[in-house]
Amino acid sequence: MKPREIVPDVYYVGAPDFDRRLFDALIPLPDGTSYNSYLVRGRDKTALIESVEPEKINVLEGYLKDVPKVDYLISNHTEQDHSGGIPWVLGRYPGIELLSSEPAKPMLVDHLGLSAARIRTVADGERLDLGGKTLHFIYTPWVHWPETMSTYLEEDQILFSCDWFGAHIAQTGLFVDGADCILAEAKRYYAEIMMPFRKIVQKNLDKIKDLEIRLIAPSHGPIYRDPQSIIRAYRAWADDRPANSVVIPWVTMHGSTALMVERLAAALVERGVTVYPFNMATADIGQLAMALVDAATIVVAAPTVHVGPHPMAYNAVVLANALRPKVRFASIIGSYGWGGKMVDMVKAAMPNLKVELLPTVIAKGLPKTADFEALDALAGTIAAKHMELGLFSG
Ligand code: FEO
Repeated sequence: MKPREIVPDVYYVGAPDFDRRLFDALIPLPDGTSYNSYLVRGRDKTALIESVEPEKINVLEGYLKDVPKVDYLISNHTEQDHSGGIPWVLGRYPGIELLSSEPAKPMLVDHLGLSAARIRTVADGERLDLGGKTLHFIYTPWVHWPETMSTYLEEDQILFSCDWFGAHIAQTGLFVDGADCILAEAKRYYAEIMMPFRKIVQKNLDKIKDLEIRLIAPSHGPIYRDPQSIIRAYRAWADDRPANSVVIPWVTMHGSTALMVERLAAALVERGVTVYPFNMATADIGQLAMALVDAATIVVAAPTVHVGPHPMAYNAVVLANALRPKVRFASIIGSYGWGGKMVDMVKAAMPNLKVELLPTVIAKGLPKTADFEALDALAGTIAAKHMELGLFSG
């Protein structure tokens, strides 16, 4: 296949992966993904930006079949879905120079077994002139790893952003006109990959705010022809202000916790609060992560199993703790048969959540009238807290 032109002398040479359903053995990929690689031809030199996941190296090989010389390989990010094909590229083009950020160099050595002598580092802000095509390297740490940089092609105003602004979606078309068309996929990606680094996302957004950007070409998903649409979405997702919503990851064994979730959800809705309940026995954790992007409150609802929380509810807490959403309040509800430490264990599992802990509601066996009244009171407390933050004002 011939390299696919994006603008004159800039080409797509990446690979969609329609069949992949799981990333990092954790993240559901309902729409597959893609590993985007780009070829930039200057008058004098040619650069390849990123390689691809090793399983798709045959696609890159096909695109590069009639490209006899590439002078530079730019590695924006060391995770193997982009860097894994680097050894193949180095073998295909023995004279190629591998460029990375300074922090990426030891990581490329560690992850790929490359010789450090094979890698030249570029500084933040450094430029590389290919002859009428100037690559400007911008360190953008923590989107997704600490070493990550973005590459801006000045003449064509294209930002090769690697993971950030990406979306796990496989398609044959190269472009999307506005983020609205893939907002769910982009938000899912942000939630799972970028949310833990929300504060640094804000700084990186500030760092690129004065760039004239005509296209954003990420390393997953389509190229944005309306880059401001996805930048606006990122600003909103990373913003400190939460929404007037509550996420309830829950599990039930014999129905008691389910009754409590139902009552709490109804009481919250009555008070004008949006509720996102997720039965963790069947939930898509990507959707849970997406709901956590905006929520002001998380309520964990779990029965007690062998002293502790049901493992599936516990998993949701561990995941939320890892994703570090902007939630401001938390509570725990659930039930037990004869005793246990469910509440203490859930509280201990969320040290990264900077939340005010609200009263808990724990029923012995089936919830009774007093338990339901306590759930109504909890809903009232949550609504009042949201009101204090001004979240009812739209
Ligand atoms: Fe697409 Fe962090 O790798």
